[in-house]
Amino acid sequence: MRILVTGGAGYIGSHTILELLSAGYDVVAMDNFSNSKPAVIDRLYAVSGVRFRFYEADLGDSLALDKIFIENKIDGVINFAGAKAVGESVEKPLKYYRNNLSGMINLLETMARFECRQFVFSSSATVYGAGGTPPFREEDPLGALNPYGSTKLMGETILRDVSAADPEFSAAILRYFNPIGAHPSGMLGEDPAGIPNNLLPYIARVAVGRLPYLTVFGDDWPTPDGTGIRDYIHVVDLARGHVAALAYLAAHPGCVTANLGTGRGHSVLEVLHAFERACGRQIPYEVGPRRPGDNAVSYADCTRARELFGWQAQLGLEEMCADSWRFIQQNPDGIQ
Ligand code: UD1
Repeated sequence: MRILVTGGAGYIGSHTILELLSAGYDVVAMDNFSNSKPAVIDRLYAVSGVRFRFYEADLGDSLALDKIFIENKIDGVINFAGAKAVGESVEKPLKYYRNNLSGMINLLETMARFECRQFVFSSSATVYGAGGTPPFREEDPLGALNPYGSTKLMGETILRDVSAADPEFSAAILRYFNPIGAHPSGMLGEDPAGIPNNLLPYIARVAVGRLPYLTVFGDDWPTPDGTGIRDYIHVVDLARGHVAALAYLAAHPGCVTANLGTGRGHSVLEVLHAFERACGRQIPYEVGPRRPGDNAVSYADCTRARELFGWQAQLGLEEMCADSWRFIQQNPDGIQ
């Protein structure tokens, strides 16, 4: 089977390409490099030893999509192309609706023209909104707290509608919890432009001296140590979850939704101390105010992914931190 991976040079896309290749899939990848670097593709060739086809293209460009589908018989699509910074989405909502939704609709229309009917969608734990009590289950009430979250909720709705209209169409909506870690080769990892928004890349940059200290967003949350709790999942486990979902889709038309997490929560301070153990040095931090829009605790119920896909996360927080540390040590200034 030949899978098109959009956003293939990004953090989760690049790791998923490696897992697809190891599982024996043919891969065609595309990226517009708006938030990633061409060097990632060379690194993927080096790590995998496979020179899969790559297109520099934007999901907004229907002609470019047609060309990819004309030149390659695509059996399924994993769509990682999209913007994901919550704060930016509040400032530039139209950028988010255009990138994440118009792009996805273009892609689905192209797929329909070429009779390609398998789609894997990157959703997020953000769709569980502000209410609700963890562990979050797929049937829990949903809500969006910002335009980024709205694009994920709407993306899910679009796929359910498309799948209801076409009994041969199959889609997996995967709700990611907090992907961290890096490929064990140290060649691929999370490499955000500018100051990182998320916890792990921030800690990693403090550890290599690029940032002075971490600000912990509040230590007065109703948790044992007062800091926020999240379900961190190793990006390699997450990538394998996509491969497992694709295998399921091949045999099951329809639209399925599943959480991808570990089912375990860790606090900000637990993550900080695990990273200190991995790098053998202290990470300076200060406690600041809560970040608007944050919640105290989020972790997944992963029963459905286990039952349907036969998939379960294998790697723990120590491995996540050790691999992140290896990546930032080997690439202190990011991927060049
Ligand atoms: C964030 C987004 C979420 C998105 C996800 C993936 C927000 C409110 N949520 O999730 O919608 O799907 O990223 O991109 O932006 N923390 C600190 N100091 C920091 C950074 C984070 O203390 O400098 C804390 C946070 O308060 C939180 C935890 O670390 O308790 C994890 O934060 P983060 O990595 O940003 O992930 P989420 O907030 O879970």
